[in-house]
Amino acid sequence: MDTSLKKDALKEEARQLQKELTEHSHRYHVLDDPIISDGEYDRMMARLLEIETQNPKFCAADSPTKRVGAPPLDAFESAAHSIPMLSLDNAFKDDDVLSFHTRNIKNLEFEKIFYTVEPKLDGLAVELTYENGILVRATTRGDGINGEVITENVRTIKSIPLRLNKTQDVLPALLEVRGEVIIMHEDFERLNQTRLAKGEAPFANPRNAAAGSLRQLDSRVTATRPLTIFVYGVGKVTGMEFETQARMLSTLKAFGFPVNQHIQTHITIQEALTFYNRLAQIRADLEYEIDGMVIKVDRLDMQQALGEKIKSPRWSIAYKFPAMQETTTILDIIVQVGRTGTLTPVALLEPTNVGGVVVARATLHNADEIKRKDIRIGDKVLIMRAGDVIPKVVKVIESARKGDELPFEMPDTCPVCNSPVRRLEDEAAIKCINLTCRAQLTERIKHFVSKKGFDMDGLGKKIVDQLVNEGLISSFADLFTLDQERLSALDRQAKKSVSNMLKAIEGSKQISLPRFLFALGIDHTGENAARLLARQFETLETLMAADKESLENIHGMGEKTAASVMLFFANPKNRRILQQILDAGVTIQNDLFANLTPADHPLSGKTLVLTGTLTTLKRAEAKGQLESLGAKVTSSVSARTDFLVAGRDAGSKLEKAQALGVTVLDEAELVRMIHG
Ligand code: IVH
Repeated sequence: MDTSLKKDALKEEARQLQKELTEHSHRYHVLDDPIISDGEYDRMMARLLEIETQNPKFCAADSPTKRVGAPPLDAFESAAHSIPMLSLDNAFKDDDVLSFHTRNIKNLEFEKIFYTVEPKLDGLAVELTYENGILVRATTRGDGINGEVITENVRTIKSIPLRLNKTQDVLPALLEVRGEVIIMHEDFERLNQTRLAKGEAPFANPRNAAAGSLRQLDSRVTATRPLTIFVYGVGKVTGMEFETQARMLSTLKAFGFPVNQHIQTHITIQEALTFYNRLAQIRADLEYEIDGMVIKVDRLDMQQALGEKIKSPRWSIAYKFPAMQETTTILDIIVQVGRTGTLTPVALLEPTNVGGVVVARATLHNADEIKRKDIRIGDKVLIMRAGDVIPKVVKVIESARKGDELPFEMPDTCPVCNSPVRRLEDEAAIKCINLTCRAQLTERIKHFVSKKGFDMDGLGKKIVDQLVNEGLISSFADLFTLDQERLSALDRQAKKSVSNMLKAIEGSKQISLPRFLFALGIDHTGENAARLLARQFETLETLMAADKESLENIHGMGEKTAASVMLFFANPKNRRILQQILDAGVTIQNDLFANLTPADHPLSGKTLVLTGTLTTLKRAEAKGQLESLGAKVTSSVSARTDFLVAGRDAGSKLEKAQALGVTVLDEAELVRMIHG
């Protein structure tokens, strides 16, 4: 072929790959609905990189290859915001919000004011500038007037579009989008675990981690951090107009930006107050940190009429939640042994109410952390609770020291089995390496039966302790051999719940592959890795037969995980236990609905609505199968709805169902009902 023709063909191939990869990345990171395998994605990306490396001119500003980071900067440039990025006035009680509303009525001389309310995300505000649909610059909020230019770092955030979706009729010539960069709790914990294992200081909270990651001079470092974003507003816009905050958000969503789903639009101030209480209730279950609810006048012409003060707008207010930090005293420090043998120091605290929950213990991570923070028994400390996460000690209040506080040393023997402990080279963790240590077995069983694993509801922590201590179980498989007779060894209290226990064990025997893999507690294999493995291999048998290379090739999976998965399945003892679990009647569902017939099924003739993110089944899959059982799946909740199935982060449909008294099922309950 003629070289220029060849170049044209390559250019076209690069353009096509850029387009397709952008779509797939959006499906994966924003819509949570990928349609190609990770392997396929990686192959396409590798091909694009190859073309672009040989022909740098083909590497467009919005090419997905730009997401890997660029060479480090010497310093950040500063840039003025075209419109200042203001902060918000705070409200702490309903009255503050009502005064805000009264003030708005007075200023606008208009009674009927509607609001849009959004979670107040606890991250870092950024501004993203799009010129003719392409991301050209990103800045931090800075002091509100000037921010730092962090374009390369922001390009590495996969949920941020590098190019606006063209589904909109018009592409604005200029669009400045504002949003909050955050880190999800699960990702934050994983990030800190990795840092702790490397002997690095963990981040105090997800917000600090997000801030630290965004302000990296080397964007290749940022690319390794699990940052994501929710957008909530705009700065300067030319070539497009919005009438309301609600319309603006739906347009941003259509452009491809993640917009939070716990948003209520066009509501009265009373409804806003009701929603605040709901949000406060679900706060601990959210996957990310929020510290309040932002109330915004919905109509943008009204926003403009109300105007701004120097630091904050008059048309918006932040209704804060109670603080998640409190001070208390460390009464003692104990050492717990986890399921991999790691010794973790835990502070026993003077019980204190932190944001509505009484906290009596906090993790101290490891010996290095105790030394770094100079934590002593008797110290007054600042503690913090974040979402579901275990409370932690932020810092010592040194000014409160009296001099009689006791320094703490980690023991050199395991507090459970007394065998000597070891600190592995390059690792901060001190471990009990006695594989038969009871603590490890107990913790492994607790993990196995936990909600995200086999979800054996009747088997609380105390019961597991007893089962192990009494020698009733010595492996996962033994759980399935428990019966009335064997359980008679339990104490009186536990005996009462025997039938619940047996029911829970029986009910857990149908399990999806990701949950099954999670339950096994393989090192470095949390929910995310379990899901990736299940998606890639589909059955336990295929996974068990996988070689190292195919494990390492999974997009998003670390080397450490691949290695420990290999090690786990190579161990004949583990294979034997797996076989025993299957022999006990556990079935791993690939298609959760296989082998079911509609006849006489309890769901036949029922009307269901599915909402929120389903984790074990895909929405479309669930719908198809429910229909094949004779059930009807509709999209809106009404009094005629029999069941609402609420997945993760279920929003307004759940509220409506609750208001109408419709029975709400979670995903596990749905699966159980389907199985009759
Ligand atoms: S609106 C002028 N909406 O809160 C309007 N801000 O205290 C100000 N924030 O700097 C921004 N979630 O970092 C808005 N849904 C939300 C928000 C939000 C979090 C942060 C943002 C801002 C700060 C203001």
